[in-house]
Amino acid sequence: MNPNLVNLVYLIAGVLFILGIKGLTKPKTAVRGNLLSAVGMMIAVIVTLMDSSVVNMTYIVAGVTVGTLIGAVMALRIQMTSMPEMVALLNGFGGGASLSIALAEYYSRLGLNATSVADLAAPVVVGSSAFGDGFQGTVTLVSITLTVLIGALTLTGSVIAFTKLKEIMKNSYGLPGGPIGNGLLLAAALFAVGTVVMDPGNTSAMLMLIGLAFLLGIFLVIPIGGADMPVVIALLNSYSGIAAALAGFILGNTVLIIAGSLVGTSGLILTNIMCVAMNRSLGNVLFGKMAEGGETIDADEIYAGKVTSAQADEVALILETAKRVVIVPGYGMAMAQAQHAVRELANAMEARGTEVEYGIHPVAGRMPGHMNVLLAEAEVPYDKLVEMDKINPTFDDTDVAIVLGANDVVNPMARDVEGSPIYGMPILNVDYAKTVVVIKRSLSPGFAGLPNPLFAMDNTIMVYGDGKKAVIEMTTALNQA
Ligand code: TAP
Repeated sequence: MNPNLVNLVYLIAGVLFILGIKGLTKPKTAVRGNLLSAVGMMIAVIVTLMDSSVVNMTYIVAGVTVGTLIGAVMALRIQMTSMPEMVALLNGFGGGASLSIALAEYYSRLGLNATSVADLAAPVVVGSSAFGDGFQGTVTLVSITLTVLIGALTLTGSVIAFTKLKEIMKNSYGLPGGPIGNGLLLAAALFAVGTVVMDPGNTSAMLMLIGLAFLLGIFLVIPIGGADMPVVIALLNSYSGIAAALAGFILGNTVLIIAGSLVGTSGLILTNIMCVAMNRSLGNVLFGKMAEGGETIDADEIYAGKVTSAQADEVALILETAKRVVIVPGYGMAMAQAQHAVRELANAMEARGTEVEYGIHPVAGRMPGHMNVLLAEAEVPYDKLVEMDKINPTFDDTDVAIVLGANDVVNPMARDVEGSPIYGMPILNVDYAKTVVVIKRSLSPGFAGLPNPLFAMDNTIMVYGDGKKAVIEMTTALNQA
């Protein structure tokens, strides 16, 4: 196929990706944005397959078929609440794919005909232009080695993130020496990168690089726990994009460079948004550990004798006279699948002339946009979903804040208790409302494992029970009033 035509189609695909991402910034245009990106990817794949440099269709068709089947089954079976695990795993696959491309290119350019693992470490005398001449050769080697480094650490880091989110691995462990140990590991990996670039035939250095990168991925993610995990996922997503972009440089494939760069940068932007939303610096997330101290906070001391609870029908009496109600959903709404019930409750309140809005925290739930997706599914109008910064100033004028299965994102300790592990994390100031109704099954902590002084405040009423059931009972009582 004419290379100019291929590049033109790649350019069109790139434009579609960008338009797609723009569409994804608003719930209203998100579906169209997703479609545009998918069409862009489809035409990029078709053109790549039609390109003459594709030598073996059998493997490609087999790979696409198996991959499509596995992907479709995973996507159909996955629960919304398990989406972060799936994203973590897919990031890992992306890193692994780029790693494979880089290694295949490295060994094929070396002309190594390995029949055993030991052969992979055999020193090779490299022809002067095996990797391209002069500067071009250096660019290829730097791209190969950095793809190996980033692809491998993305793969192992993502697998660790997956096991942590799935709670297969429950504890956090660190490399001896903590951040310094990780720094040394990174320095050793960069040394191996330099060695291979200077001496491409040094296959032992390449194997060392692979091993160090695998370890680095493990040790970077293992110490990170609790509330930092979404940041790690976004960061690994960015890494997988950077690895893909570098793989694009190795193959000289423009669309891979464009798509990889878009994933890399959007992942970094998302990482930054998450860091701000959780008050973590990127350096701290990379080489740090979730702040300690949570276990020293005594829940009994906070709650003893101070928690007021009520039944759903009693709360309905308060809702009857409320002029403005803000619903704050959290992970518990997703667990209870209460989004449709919430919409019904809002309808019932609005029918009585109450103004109802939803306060959405950027990290409520377990993935970015988790609450928006669920509420959109229940056809809650987009303009009723109000971001944290916009809704916070309105709590003073709010009669009732209904906190449905949210905990950490409304924990006033983040605002008021210096030294608490979540201190500085921006929260929804629901406690400024006249009355706060918290619907959850018990006083159990949320994701960060901390008690929540909100539950013991004078203006708070706890409604214990499953989120969906409690909301349905409230709606029924309100409709009968
Ligand atoms: P959490 O702090 O995790 O609290 C959720 C609460 O929901 C729990 O305390 C639980 O209490 C309650 N719950 C569970 N099942 C329920 C049910 N069926 N009915 C009613 N309530 C139920 O949630 P949040 O406030 O949304 O905060 C999110 C947390 O997750 C933050 O710490 C955030 O950093 C972290 N995180 C976020 C993301 C993203 S990107 N959103 C990703 C990973 C982690 P009971 O057991 O007492 O019912």
